[in-house]
Amino acid sequence: MTEYRPACAEDDFPLEEVMRIERASFTVPWTEDDFLTLLSRDYAVTLVASDGGTVTGYGCAVSVADEAEILNLAVDGEMRRRGVGRELLGRLVRAVSDRGARRIFLEVRRSNAAARALYASFGFGEIGVRQNYYRLPVEDAILMYYDADAADNGDGTSK
Ligand SMILES: CC(C)(COP(=O)(O)OP(=O)(O)OC[C@H]1O[C@@H](n2cnc3c(N)ncnc32)[C@H](O)[C@@H]1OP(=O)(O)O)[C@@H](O)C(=O)NCCC(=O)NCCS
Repeated sequence: MTEYRPACAEDDFPLEEVMRIERASFTVPWTEDDFLTLLSRDYAVTLVASDGGTVTGYGCAVSVADEAEILNLAVDGEMRRRGVGRELLGRLVRAVSDRGARRIFLEVRRSNAAARALYASFGFGEIGVRQNYYRLPVEDAILMYYDADAADNGDGTSK
């Protein structure tokens, strides 16, 4: 059974296992320092999913005033399509909402059909394009937005 928990400090965070998933998931992975720096910030939320003690995924977000951004989300390649990504995303959204975020943003590669489908199914709407935003390969970012007020009011999706 998958367990989800927040990580708040370096000794609370399975850096090695997370880095294995990170390097396998992205052409420009975050560095160890990227994760550790974020963990030290009180405006950041980091969640870790694990199954029988093995890390299966993680997600990171930051939240300032009524805005938040989902910064990272990845699931072990062997564990995808089992709902872990959706659960991590839902828990990140709840965590930043609990801290006061009403407007939640993220960026995703145009070609990343899996992530775009996940975000869309959750209620994120596509609101813009950042041209040539990514490298390796150079590619546009799709900017997505989730309106927590609209979701709370039962509007279903955000604009
Ligand atoms: C994106 C990612 C986190 C999804 O994690 P996951 O655990 O496989 O996702 P889930 O099983 O929770 O899927 C939830 C929904 O997302 C969509 N989805 C997920 N993977 C998909 C795929 N390969 N193709 C199409 N839709 C997909 C579906 O709507 C799915 O619902 P369904 O299974 O009921 O059809 C995972 O593919 C991943 O780690 N990718 C590499 C890293 C990455 O791209 N992160 C996002 C950066 S912006």
